[in-house]
Amino acid sequence: MKLVFATGNLNKMREIREIMSGLDFDICSMKEAGIDLDIDENAETFEGNALIKARAVRNALDASGSEELKKAVVLADDSGLEIDALGGAPGVYSARFMGEDTGYDIKNAEIIKRLSGKTGKQRAARFRCVIAAVFPDGRELTASGCFEGVIANAPGGENGFGYDPILFLPEYGMTAAQLSSEEKNKISHRGKALFEMRKLLETTC
Ligand code: IMP
Repeated sequence: MKLVFATGNLNKMREIREIMSGLDFDICSMKEAGIDLDIDENAETFEGNALIKARAVRNALDASGSEELKKAVVLADDSGLEIDALGGAPGVYSARFMGEDTGYDIKNAEIIKRLSGKTGKQRAARFRCVIAAVFPDGRELTASGCFEGVIANAPGGENGFGYDPILFLPEYGMTAAQLSSEEKNKISHRGKALFEMRKLLETTC
C-alpha cells in the first residue's frame, strides 16, 4: 500500500522512512505523489491542523485519477512549542508567533523575557507533535508525542532549528539545540508520535 506523507520537508521524509521501515508501505512525499496544495491550517489544536492537512491531501489523491493513489493512506503532522506559564502559547501559532518572517533569535529572546521572574517548574514547556492518518475509506487515526523540558534562562546550542536553543532538557543537561540531530530524532516529539503511529498502523493495516 502507498503511504503519502503531507510534507515537503526532506528531514521529515527521512525520519518517517526510518521509523516506518519494515512495514509494508511504499512511502512517498506529497510532492512525489504530484500533489501541490496550499493548505490553510486554521484549527486551534495540533490534532485539528494535522487532520485538516491529511484530509486535504486525501481528497486531492481521490481527484488525481491514479488508482494506486486513490488507495493510499495519508499521514500529516503538526507540531509546536507549548509553554505552561503562557497558557500553552505559542502552541499552534509557533511558526506564526511574532510574525512568520521574524527570526528565531528575536522570538526566543521575547519568550525568555516573558518568563522573567519564573523559576523551576514555572518554566515548564514542551514540543508537542500530532500525526494524523486518513484512510481511503474515511477512517482517521491520530498519535501524539511530547518532548518535555523547561525554558532556558538564555539560548544555547547551534544545532536544530526554531525554538531548539531555548528548550532546556533537564534529563540531558542541555538544550535541544545542543543535541546532535541523530540524538534528537531518537527522543523528539515527532519521533515519538511517528513511532506511536507505526504501532497503530501495524495493528490496523
Ligand atoms: P511544523 O508543524 O513541524 O511545521 O512546526 C511548526 C513550528 O513549531 C515550527 O515552525 C517551529 O516554530 C516549531 N517547532 C516544531 N518542532 C520543533 C522542533 O523540533 N524544534 C524547534 N521548533 C519546533
